[in-house]
Amino acid sequence: MAKRIIPVSSGKGGVGKTSFAINLALCLSQYGRTILVDLDTGTSSIRGTIDAPVSRDLYHFFKKGAPLQECITPLGSKLDPHDKFADFGFIASPRHMIEAITNMNRTWRNYLIDAINGLNADYIILDLKAGLDPGVIDFMPPANSGILVFTPNHPAATLAASDIAKAILFRELRELFHKDSPLYQHFKGIDAREINMLIDRTEDVYEDAPGNLDDFLQLLAQRMPGNSFVAILRHIVHRFRIYYVLNRFDGVETSYETAVKPLVENVTRHISSGLQISNLGWINESPGYHRANVDRIPYLLADKAEQPKPEKKPKMDEVSRQMEELYSLAGLRRKKEPASEPREIASPIPDRQVVLDGQLKSIEALFRAKGRDTIHQNFEYIVSCLRYVFQNKRATELGTARILKQGELVPLLLAQKMRRDAAMRAQ
Ligand SMILES: Nc1ncnc2c1ncn2[C@@H]1O[C@H](COP(=O)(O)OP(=O)(O)O)[C@@H](O)[C@H]1O
Ligand SMILES: [Mg+2]
Repeated sequence: MAKRIIPVSSGKGGVGKTSFAINLALCLSQYGRTILVDLDTGTSSIRGTIDAPVSRDLYHFFKKGAPLQECITPLGSKLDPHDKFADFGFIASPRHMIEAITNMNRTWRNYLIDAINGLNADYIILDLKAGLDPGVIDFMPPANSGILVFTPNHPAATLAASDIAKAILFRELRELFHKDSPLYQHFKGIDAREINMLIDRTEDVYEDAPGNLDDFLQLLAQRMPGNSFVAILRHIVHRFRIYYVLNRFDGVETSYETAVKPLVENVTRHISSGLQISNLGWINESPGYHRANVDRIPYLLADKAEQPKPEKKPKMDEVSRQMEELYSLAGLRRKKEPASEPREIASPIPDRQVVLDGQLKSIEALFRAKGRDTIHQNFEYIVSCLRYVFQNKRATELGTARILKQGELVPLLLAQKMRRDAAMRAQ
């Protein structure tokens, strides 16, 4: 299986990213070598919540020339006396604020991206900072949101989180239509100035039209009928996937009203109705989970943490049938799509209410099946969803096998297109 780099972000701070990223990485380390990277480089939040001695961190990487692989801190004997998490390690950010590392410039970001891409691991979890600046967006996968964490307690954060998807897509559009883009040699009849003005107007929510990327695509299709690059653009927008986890879950209704509904409304109104949105589960509100952070012993490591109660075990085929149904409602179960030519004809875009109903149905079913779960079980479910996607879908569907640097996307897309064209000609 390809390496998976999975960013955890939320747009705003204080919603539970770091707690989630740490415990998720601990879970994944039971399935493969896992490295958690602290990219909230101003607050050193991971070293603040894991009580393990750090001998090298991002300071040594940036300032002392240490290879990133040598800046990994294991849990050590105090937190992991029986070596149950020997496959887990974290890369801490510096102990104190260092301006050049907190606000990395492009050269430093690229240097770090290359090093993260080169890490030897099966899973790499990135704990990102709040905000939508390049220190967040540049580490994002090209075709999905990574995992967004929301909390019903903080509705404004939900909007900020969904804007991450918008920022990724618009960054890609700007790169595609940059005045020096190699795109123009491959597709004729594109007016760069006109398209860039349209992109600006689409991004700007204060402008009425085009309202979102669906309107933008429709306009382009009208202005350039038959130009195959419009189909490619549509493919880029509609293959994009958003994954979210609800933190501090306190019931279906509150989550739906204060987190899920604003998310879907923002995405469909301002980005596109064609994106796939998937709920990967939730984490309960829990004083013990908070306590674990204060004590610097990650929740899933603490002996005192509630273990799943050994209940009467349901039959295996019953469990897998139920899981398949939950995956399907969460939109995870779509068959692996063939690497087909982006279609000229757009598939119909679902209505906003249909997307909302789908989300509600998925959360209700999950609540019926797992409403009484413990935090251990919350994570078990989330990890089962992730592993299901990893096993059944391409690496670009959730996270990425490699973070792309600026300028790498367009050549990659063109190479894909040329391969497809050659395959078509050979048929
Ligand atoms: N599910 C939860 N139940 C109780 N407290 C939580 C929960 N999730 C997060 N917290 C608390 O909220 C605060 C912010 O969490 P943190 O993981 O640091 O968020 P972020 O990384 O998004 O800033 C911390 O004090 C943490 O202990
Ligand atoms: Mg944090």
